[in-house]
Amino acid sequence: MNGVPAPGNTAVYPGSFDPMTRGHLDVIERAAAIFDTVVVAVVVNPQKREPLFTLDEREQMIRDAVAHLSNVQVTNFRGLLADFVRRAGASVIVKGLRVVSDFESEMSTALMNRSLSGVDTVFLPSDPKWSFVSSTLVKEVYNLGADVAEYVPPAVLNLMRAKRTESRPT
Ligand code: PNS
Repeated sequence: MNGVPAPGNTAVYPGSFDPMTRGHLDVIERAAAIFDTVVVAVVVNPQKREPLFTLDEREQMIRDAVAHLSNVQVTNFRGLLADFVRRAGASVIVKGLRVVSDFESEMSTALMNRSLSGVDTVFLPSDPKWSFVSSTLVKEVYNLGADVAEYVPPAVLNLMRAKRTESRPT
């Protein structure tokens, strides 16, 4: 994105993507079939923790994974999502809901974002296949040595394997 709003209905799909999972990719593919343009917006500093992947790595892994989707763009934002969606000229924010308990926090976030920006949030239910897959769990099992091929797109897996090789003591 270069600051010029894309034409038509633009949806922003925000997240930490640390790392991107197959659940994220599924939501992006389904959003891309509904909206004219989907802007995947990677938050610069995830609030929860020190990220495993740098911002550049997170953006690059998403770009590789969505290369087959011509109406998907990848960018980053810092600060308020509400400010970003206004700048992007977005008509909607997209969020995936994996489990019922996600709804509780996502509901208040959606209402706050609408209050700040006038932009509504559309929830897409996760494919049940991915309902147990979160970035946090993927990171945890990866850090403990598990093979995460089933849970992340191939582009992400390559990066994770490279990172493991890099960090292995010689
Ligand atoms: O993948 P995540 O970590 O669940 O994504 C969370 C994210 C990036 C969507 C959320 O933390 C966010 O919107 N951050 C921007 C700061 C902001 O706008 N906070 C107020 C929300 S009402």
